[in-house]
Amino acid sequence: MATLNWGMIGGGEGSQIGPAHRLAARLDDCFQFVAGALDHDPLAGHDFGKRLGLNPDRSYGNWREMLEAEQKRPDHIDLVTVATPNSTHYEISKAFLEAGFNVLCEKPMTVTEAEAEDLVLTARKADRICAVNFGYTGYALVRHMRAMISRGDLGQIRLVVVEFAHGHHADAADLNNPRVRWRYDPLQAGVSAQFADCGIHALHLASFVTKQEVTRLSSDFASCLPGRLLEDDAMVNFRLNGGAVGRLWTSSVAIGRQHGLTIQVFGENGGLRWEQEHPNQLYYMPLGQRLQVIERGETNLSPEADRASRVTIGHAEGMPLAFANIYRDLSESILAKRSGCTANPAMTLFPTPEDGLRSVAAIHAAVASAKADGAWTDARPRLFR
Ligand code: NAI
Repeated sequence: MATLNWGMIGGGEGSQIGPAHRLAARLDDCFQFVAGALDHDPLAGHDFGKRLGLNPDRSYGNWREMLEAEQKRPDHIDLVTVATPNSTHYEISKAFLEAGFNVLCEKPMTVTEAEAEDLVLTARKADRICAVNFGYTGYALVRHMRAMISRGDLGQIRLVVVEFAHGHHADAADLNNPRVRWRYDPLQAGVSAQFADCGIHALHLASFVTKQEVTRLSSDFASCLPGRLLEDDAMVNFRLNGGAVGRLWTSSVAIGRQHGLTIQVFGENGGLRWEQEHPNQLYYMPLGQRLQVIERGETNLSPEADRASRVTIGHAEGMPLAFANIYRDLSESILAKRSGCTANPAMTLFPTPEDGLRSVAAIHAAVASAKADGAWTDARPRLFR
């Protein structure tokens, strides 16, 4: 497979998500890391980029400089990852798409629904990929869940229960920690903190595995730490367009919970349960039979799960490998598009800007519902109503 050129914006030294992207993008040699504007501090970003092995002239002080310079290079980047704080995603992603680059944007894709709508339309007009990093969809057994549900193993889906609850922002002493503070600052995070940060991963997972979209929701938000302007805990009931009932709990003050992303799907003929902290096992309960444990890497899994599985059965596979599946899908899709081939559907499982828009619309619906004492609220993006 050809190696494509990759660059990143954000993900500077000490950032949370930068290292996972750098591991994932390079894991399959689909991409080589050639350019970056890695930090809000130009000197720190430039210095860190050089230490990561970037040529000094491609370790840029800021993203505008990077855009201008990369446009002029014959060996320009083929994909840019935007891993900066939320409020900057829109401007950066839009500028790169309009200049003809493919983009992988961190979630939430934008802060407002109008921005998200505009990115969908910009990507369509530019005819470029604008993926959104709902990276947990890259896990092999999540893809297997989707395949099982799609082929009807559970029958009609009745109920989806998702959680993403951790306790890492529970310490009041951390209120002014700069890496925590921006997440609860409306100017940098937008209208929602925990639901936009973690809840939407869970919500997207519910749609991804069931292939059903969220139609409406009712939410209850809480800010458990005094002084926080945005929520650190949320309970959201939702409905999916295939008729399933959805339940979601997300929290950042659940001391003792680590990452806490789980999904359970219950249909008329059986149930499935998967926990991201134990990603190698999928629990399957067919109606009236014994509980079965499906192991990642076992024979006779779906082709989607086989493709996403990297190491043999019984060995740990984790988050950077799930992200790597997104990067491999992207590289194959970029190459297929360039050569005029139709992409194999298994290569196009990465989340799209339409998914990003749906999530942003759900965030705004959840905020509006919480302000209206849990009133049921239309969660569909205006563009798709
Ligand atoms: P962080 O605060 O740990 O790091 C942010 C990095 O971006 C820092 O290095 C900072 O210097 C840099 N930065 C800020 N503004 C910049 C600019 N204008 N140009 C270049 N660099 C800039 O934040 P974290 O946790 O890494 O989050 C970044 C994004 O990734 C957020 O949108 C967040 O929601 C998302 N995220 C996604 C996860 C996933 O599972 N998909 C997990 C964690 C975060």
